[in-house]
Amino acid sequence: MDNIPVITIDGPSGSGKGTLSQQLAKHLHWHFLDSGSLYRILALAAGQHLISFSDEQALANLAKTLAVEFLTQELGDTPRVLLDTQDVTHAIRTESCGNRASSIAVFQKVRQALLERQRAFKKPPGLVTDGRDMGTIIFPDAVLKIYLDASVEERAKRRHKQLLEKDIHTSFDVVKAQLIKRDQRDKTRSIAPLNPASDAIIMDTTGMTIETVFNKIIALTKKIPGV
Ligand code: DC
Repeated sequence: MDNIPVITIDGPSGSGKGTLSQQLAKHLHWHFLDSGSLYRILALAAGQHLISFSDEQALANLAKTLAVEFLTQELGDTPRVLLDTQDVTHAIRTESCGNRASSIAVFQKVRQALLERQRAFKKPPGLVTDGRDMGTIIFPDAVLKIYLDASVEERAKRRHKQLLEKDIHTSFDVVKAQLIKRDQRDKTRSIAPLNPASDAIIMDTTGMTIETVFNKIIALTKKIPGV
């Protein structure tokens, strides 16, 4: 056992977990793990290596050998992502890459191959993580587990806005339909499905600004001894 604190933020796409976990890591000057990016990088790499998205073993082998680097200037910064020295920071953010990531995330061998890679992010002074199974599987001993949710309509609006800001143009209806499909897959897969840990604090962020949710999360972190 070590005493490096971990705060996990899980939830479906568009729940605000990406933005909030990143802001929290920056605020605390802790390390940051965007676990979804690993599934996205693997999906991108599989495409480049012409590996079938249904070949569990080949995907797991690739996951073990992926040469990934997350480059940051300061603790908590949004990392630049390098795959085999190629900058894939933007390439992994498309909806199609997110959907492929969700498809390959159903495989036990793939999840197992990425497990230690995720745990290796836990370093002093602490770690904030964002994902689907952070509080349930990867960091069950986290000092604070938050599960963010919001209505489908609101999450689709947030996602759509985020994509437009990144200059990725897709219609709202397409974004909403894809989000529903992805949630369905992430929640119903048999291995590590998206659901709140039994000791997670569940927050419905529908109608709340990021700032309001952030302040609520900060209030929760203040209750953790030593943070
Ligand atoms: O958080 P995200 O949208 O970047 O994640 C992309 C996909 O990766 C998500 O739809 C399911 C998968 N994923 C997962 O299975 N477990 C995680 N901890 C994070 C992401």
